[in-house]
Amino acid sequence: MASQTTADRTTVTSLGPANPNHNGHGGRSDVSDLGDLGDLNGNFNDAAGRPGPLPNWLVADLRTDHAGETGAVFIYRGMLATTRHAAVRHFAQTHLATEAAHLALIEPWLTPRQRSLLLPLWGVAGWLTGALPALLGPRAAYATVQAVETFVDQHYTEQIERIDRIHPAKASPALNEIRALLAACRADEIGHRDEAAELLAGHATPLSPALRLWVWSVGAGSRAAVKVCRRI
Ligand SMILES: [Fe+2]
Ligand SMILES: [Fe+2]
Repeated sequence: MASQTTADRTTVTSLGPANPNHNGHGGRSDVSDLGDLGDLNGNFNDAAGRPGPLPNWLVADLRTDHAGETGAVFIYRGMLATTRHAAVRHFAQTHLATEAAHLALIEPWLTPRQRSLLLPLWGVAGWLTGALPALLGPRAAYATVQAVETFVDQHYTEQIERIDRIHPAKASPALNEIRALLAACRADEIGHRDEAAELLAGHATPLSPALRLWVWSVGAGSRAAVKVCRRI
């Protein structure tokens, strides 16, 4: 499936909900139906054929994406707050623009009530995730971004594969739009990951044990945050 999604590189700025109001979900979603994904609901229309609410599992997915892109914006704001290194600043500025574009594209798919209640926490966590390694230097900054984006690639891939389990005959235009949006974001994140890895490879010395531990904790923290975000 992953190879299928890499072919979907799209310009994210061309994507967005054709009808932002179709996400009129009444309240916060219950993700208890995520245990069995065999009966994914891809029908976005109500009984009268009008655009209906997004299914709960997709709202939960998009909530994690919205929170993650918020965190990503703050990662680069944190980096820019603590580094004067010209290359790192350029890296952070270009990535910040992309992450802000991702956030702007995902946001209209969720009502304010459907977004994570913990957005301020994700912002602070993101800011620290960018600011702390940038204080240490370029190598720590690039290793952190590589770890984050490795996780985000897996995260978007899982969501795209979930959508692909819906029979095409049941998929709605909205679902196809969301799939294209996720695929485009994923392509950007892969680019970010590879760019960070390339810049990191330019530094000959291997990562210290402490930095390796930090990188591991960034991945573990991201996984934990997604679990929380599905519910809160
Ligand atoms: Fe992003
Ligand atoms: Fe990214």
